[in-house]
Amino acid sequence: MKIALLGANGQLGHDLEPALQAHEIIPLTRRDMDVTDFDRTRRVLMDLSPHVILNTTAYHRVDDCENQPELAFQVNALAVLNLVRIANDSDAVLLHISTDYVFDGNTREPYTESSQPLPLSVYATSKLSGEFLVRAAAQKYFLIRTCGLYGVAGSHGKGGNFVETMIAKAKRLEPIRVVDDQVVTPTYTVDLAHQIALILSTTHYGLYHYKTPAIRPRYSVLENARLKQLGLNEMRHWREALAAYLEEKSLG
Ligand SMILES: NC(=O)c1ccc[n+]([C@@H]2O[C@H](COP(=O)([O-])OP(=O)(O)OC[C@H]3O[C@@H](n4cnc5c(N)ncnc54)[C@H](OP(=O)(O)O)[C@@H]3O)[C@@H](O)[C@H]2O)c1
Repeated sequence: MKIALLGANGQLGHDLEPALQAHEIIPLTRRDMDVTDFDRTRRVLMDLSPHVILNTTAYHRVDDCENQPELAFQVNALAVLNLVRIANDSDAVLLHISTDYVFDGNTREPYTESSQPLPLSVYATSKLSGEFLVRAAAQKYFLIRTCGLYGVAGSHGKGGNFVETMIAKAKRLEPIRVVDDQVVTPTYTVDLAHQIALILSTTHYGLYHYKTPAIRPRYSVLENARLKQLGLNEMRHWREALAAYLEEKSLG
């Protein structure tokens, strides 16, 4: 399959390339096109004519989104609608990444794909809008909600990841002050990338959670019920994945 990978130099994009090496990957970054330039994005993608448009781009500086709702909606919703239309017009599959932030976190039960979203922030609302546009208009799509990503490339949009921030503080012998009222399932981007590769080999289109919170949801555990139901669940326990990440960092 020919796969156009948008956000190829991002944290998740970095680990998707090797995970999808069995395919023809076209890595695309902001240098190739800004996804908010709808005409250029259409031209580039229509010329490439990929079987899959894999969108990892996002404007996800959560606090900045509160002051820049226009940009948040441009990147996280309207650009996504543009991708939906391009995918439909070229008979391509759209794989789009969303977030646990679509939930309010006021529960103690893991969220499944059938749980009711209730976004609390501009970021979350823009991402949920992107989801709705995919679900309402895309002909063939995979929509993946994930949570607390960490990978060796570090999140470009957020400037690193939680694990790296903690390691850096520990190395500087700084006291660590973090919120202790949020429950999340951290997700190693290598594991997510391999799970995405597996899902892409199927035609089980639709919405998926990955186990693995402006106002942040306090309880944000995603239950990957649909993957389990389909026998496609390959995600490791988060402790095992974190150990693998630290091992990869020490070797790198
Ligand atoms: N990080 C998390 O904890 C987390 C949690 C839940 C869900 N997610 C979702 O997972 C996905 C991937 O996250 P990530 O951690 O890999 O993010 P990331 O490292 O910030 O990567 C995002 C990529 O998108 C690109 N991008 C942003 N705006 C763009 C634009 N207007 N045009 C073209 N490219 C643009 C960025 O390019 P530049 O480097 O040039 O800015 C970057 O390469 C996103 O959809 C995010 O909402 C992330």
